[in-house]
Amino acid sequence: MNWVLLFALILFLGFATTSSDLNYNYYRLPAALRPQKYHLNILTLLDNPEESRFNGTVKILIEVLDNTKNITLHSKDLIIDESQTTLTHVNSGEKKDNCVSSTAVNPAHDYYILNTCQELLPGNIYELNLYFSADLKTQLEGYYRSSYEDAVANETRWITITQFEPASARLAFPCFDEPNYKAPFVVTLGHHKKFTSLSNMPVKETKPHESLTDYVWTEFEESVPMSTYLVAYSINDFSHKPSTLPNGVPFRTWARPNAIDQCDYTAEFGPKVLQYYEELFGIKFPLPKIDQFAVPDFEYGAMENWGLVVYSETTLLVSETHSSLNSKMNVAGAVAHELAHQWFGNLVTMKWWTDLWLNEGFATYVASLGVAQIHPELDYLEMDFFQNLHTIFQRDAMESSHPISRPIQTVKEINENFDDISYEKGSSVIRMMHLFLGDETFRSGLKTYLRRYKYKNAEQDNLWESLTQAAHENDALPKNYEVKTIMDSWTLQTGYPVINVTRDYASGTAELTQARYLLNSDVSRSHHEGCWWVPLSYTTQAKLDFNNTSPEDWLECSKEGRSQPKTINNLPGADQWVIFNTKLSAPYKVNYDSQNWKLLIETLNSEHFESIHVVNRAQLIEDVFSLAWTGEQDYETALGVMEYLHRERELLPLRAAFEKLTTLRRLVRRTPNFGYYKRYINKLIAPLYQELNGINDTFGSIQSQNVLLLKTELVDFACMTQVSDCVSRSKDYFREWRSVANPDETNPVPIEVRGTVYCTAIKHGSDEDWEFLWTRYLKTNVAADRDTILLSLTCTQNERLLQRQLDMIFDPKGDIRMQDAAATFDSVAANGEGWLLAKKYLVENLDHIYKYFYPVTASLAQLLPSLSDKVNTRQDYNEFKDFLDSSWEYLKDIKQAVQQTKENMLISVQWQERNYQQFFRAIRQKLNEVDEK
Ligand SMILES: *[C@@H]1O[C@H](CO)[C@@H](O)[C@H](O)[C@H]1NC(C)=O
Ligand SMILES: *[C@@H]1O[C@H](CO)[C@@H](O)[C@H](O)[C@H]1NC(C)=O
Ligand SMILES: *[C@@H]1O[C@H](CO)[C@@H](O)[C@H](O)[C@H]1NC(C)=O
Ligand SMILES: *[C@@H]1O[C@H](CO)[C@@H](O)[C@H](O)[C@H]1NC(C)=O
Ligand SMILES: *[C@@H]1O[C@H](CO)[C@@H](O)[C@H](O)[C@H]1NC(C)=O
Ligand SMILES: *[C@@H]1O[C@H](CO)[C@@H](O)[C@H](O)[C@H]1NC(C)=O
Ligand SMILES: [Zn+2]
Repeated sequence: MNWVLLFALILFLGFATTSSDLNYNYYRLPAALRPQKYHLNILTLLDNPEESRFNGTVKILIEVLDNTKNITLHSKDLIIDESQTTLTHVNSGEKKDNCVSSTAVNPAHDYYILNTCQELLPGNIYELNLYFSADLKTQLEGYYRSSYEDAVANETRWITITQFEPASARLAFPCFDEPNYKAPFVVTLGHHKKFTSLSNMPVKETKPHESLTDYVWTEFEESVPMSTYLVAYSINDFSHKPSTLPNGVPFRTWARPNAIDQCDYTAEFGPKVLQYYEELFGIKFPLPKIDQFAVPDFEYGAMENWGLVVYSETTLLVSETHSSLNSKMNVAGAVAHELAHQWFGNLVTMKWWTDLWLNEGFATYVASLGVAQIHPELDYLEMDFFQNLHTIFQRDAMESSHPISRPIQTVKEINENFDDISYEKGSSVIRMMHLFLGDETFRSGLKTYLRRYKYKNAEQDNLWESLTQAAHENDALPKNYEVKTIMDSWTLQTGYPVINVTRDYASGTAELTQARYLLNSDVSRSHHEGCWWVPLSYTTQAKLDFNNTSPEDWLECSKEGRSQPKTINNLPGADQWVIFNTKLSAPYKVNYDSQNWKLLIETLNSEHFESIHVVNRAQLIEDVFSLAWTGEQDYETALGVMEYLHRERELLPLRAAFEKLTTLRRLVRRTPNFGYYKRYINKLIAPLYQELNGINDTFGSIQSQNVLLLKTELVDFACMTQVSDCVSRSKDYFREWRSVANPDETNPVPIEVRGTVYCTAIKHGSDEDWEFLWTRYLKTNVAADRDTILLSLTCTQNERLLQRQLDMIFDPKGDIRMQDAAATFDSVAANGEGWLLAKKYLVENLDHIYKYFYPVTASLAQLLPSLSDKVNTRQDYNEFKDFLDSSWEYLKDIKQAVQQTKENMLISVQWQERNYQQFFRAIRQKLNEVDEK
């Protein structure tokens, strides 16, 4: 394959370089050296986009800790001009030349090894100078270029930006590219004077380039010590919107000039949340300025580079005339997340990628506190943690899941670690800890930890130690409990438990046991073993105390990690229910004996259903449907819980129901019984649809943001399941839009439901409808709008149009940006008609797609979810599994995603074989009951 050529592009100049000097083949750099400071000069030549390049020098001051005869650091795809390399001993003023006798590379770990003439001795400081250059590519990592269209001048404009996390600083300059090698950086950028340059720190001075006309050098202030993955810089012609906090640091928001009016929201929100964190963490934001920057082409949602936070446009920009409340909330969540990293991640950094979750789980959790603080009008905390739990209840119920904290050896493994487990499960277990420790202990332990490790690196045990200390000082935990014991059971072990509550109504007791919840029901019982320290909060029908989320008791584990059954006393009689896990304070599911379920169903189907807290109503739906999936409950009970839903007016329980019902719809859509499903859904949600005026534009008169979100999600579900007038009204809206004089300026479709209306209209519409929307895609200036339109276009049922879209996705010169390619493909595959086409396309073009993404092959993982979601027969399963197995050459970098894909298909097949008949028996019974009433 031709990509091998790209791999080790090192120019051999000066002295002998070998690639076989592999006596050091460990995945971590040798510990003999430590970088003390970097001086980085980068010259960017962007005049001719197709031939754009950068070159530079890096001067690294290196402290010797142990005798060594080599300097080993990271460098990838850089051309190093070895004739210019110098190595000087710089202790105490006097400079003495050492030299480099030979160099070598180790491509497996991206090592560049300089063998020194004389041994380097402990205590000494060396200055290493390296000259390097590389092409400025459009791949979304390292130092790369991105573009936007200047509509007025009718020209493409180019800018540059960096994306270094986790291991791509080495693509931009030679460095010790591991998070524990923190050092200050002095960055100097050379560029044409028409550009602005940005980096982590403020500009110190600008001076003319010594030889290139119209070029300047912009030098930035020396940074605080930081990890290489947080270094960032950009050359651009963007505009910015300043905002300053009272007593705060300068805070600027950057975007291409024609999108600067979309920066208002985040320019206001960002500084507010930054100030909230200063109070929460008890440490001032440590840098003298902060910029947030929206790049047209970006692989991730955002990146927390210290002082220069980078976002994709969709993640930072908000348009008053185009952005829905949902997309505004996503922006708020993302900004709050990145700014939380300025402390959690940037100031205190994980020692190694094994503890990535400390960065990501914390940023995810703390972000929800931040958004909730600034937007009290939304029930953001509840919505966010419920969504997180919902995600991990699914993902972590797979055998192919993994512990939050796990060994990491390769860059591929680091990449795989940026997943639901690090983010959502990480956040969920931190929330659990916050609730069982109490707010005061949580905050004081956190502050101690941040103060103790600032500008340094830490691992999870360091955090547990600070929190245990605070917990014992505040009597928040029994003296014989340690945070480490409890949390290790959640972070070092895959999965989460289901707690079995079996009540003895005569004695007023309950027997509690735990076992791992697994979706794959073929797995032998031994895989369900495991023990978690479970904080037990509960309430009863008489007490109704859902506010108390601190544990009444614990399910404990023995020293050997075996689970100890627990008996709970003083429970009420046979006419009253109990509910465990109040407000879902920890990530576990609960199953009850049939009498307790019966009591719960009675209350839910009575006038008093709201006496059960809204989060626990959502929990009951979530849990009972999961238990029905694995056969631990029956669908009669599950539908019994669901039955009250026509009365429900709160978002979370309805959201839980929509999610469960959407999954089931996927499984039964192409079966003879689908008609029963549709009738059932109609009965369940038509009343609420009418009450909220369906998709009709009554959004302006809705006071509560929660109701607004509820209406939006209800309408989306209703159009998908073709309830009431949802489809016809969507087509009306779309027709109206098509008939306005200037559709790019006037859009009669209500902002909140544009995605739903576009998708529904395209699904039930004509070729002309599709062409109309495609033209809007090409013309819109709002990134979030572009995304909505692009994904709506995949809703068509016309095979020719779907095929056309597939052909456009992986065309480097086409109108779909690389950052959107995988999501667009996934969306085609999620379409009933698109699935076969997408599957065929992937099978026939995997080689092309691989090359298209290379070297960011992790993107391939995003092509698989919808393809596997739709598989639910043994035959399809075997076929797709064979394809995955035979494509190992391309898929080896996404091993984890491939395993998850296989398992996801398998559990759907199992559902068909085990539950299909039973599910419809229960549905038909419910339909008859309702008909009789
Ligand atoms: C970078 O390129 C410029 C322009 O071609 C050249 O003048 C300069 O010497 C190069 N710098 C390095 C460090 O290679
Ligand atoms: C470089 O030096 C370190 C420390 O002395 C040693 O462990 C390592 O094997 C050396 N690397 C090579 C490629 O010789
Ligand atoms: C913009 O430029 C392209 C080619 O450079 C040309 O084909 C197109 O007609 C121009 N558009 C306008 C509106 O001038
Ligand atoms: C629980 O907390 C809410 C909000 O803080 C309060 O309105 C409610 O009265 C509390 N309920 C009980 C039973 O204490
Ligand atoms: C849970 O309890 C029920 C009896 O109520 C029992 O049949 C079942 O096997 C238990 N499950 C687990 C995982 O312990
Ligand atoms: C939506 O509005 C139309 C026209 O005013 C009306 O006929 C229809 O009943 C409304 N639908 C709902 C669900 O309120
Ligand atoms: Zn993050």
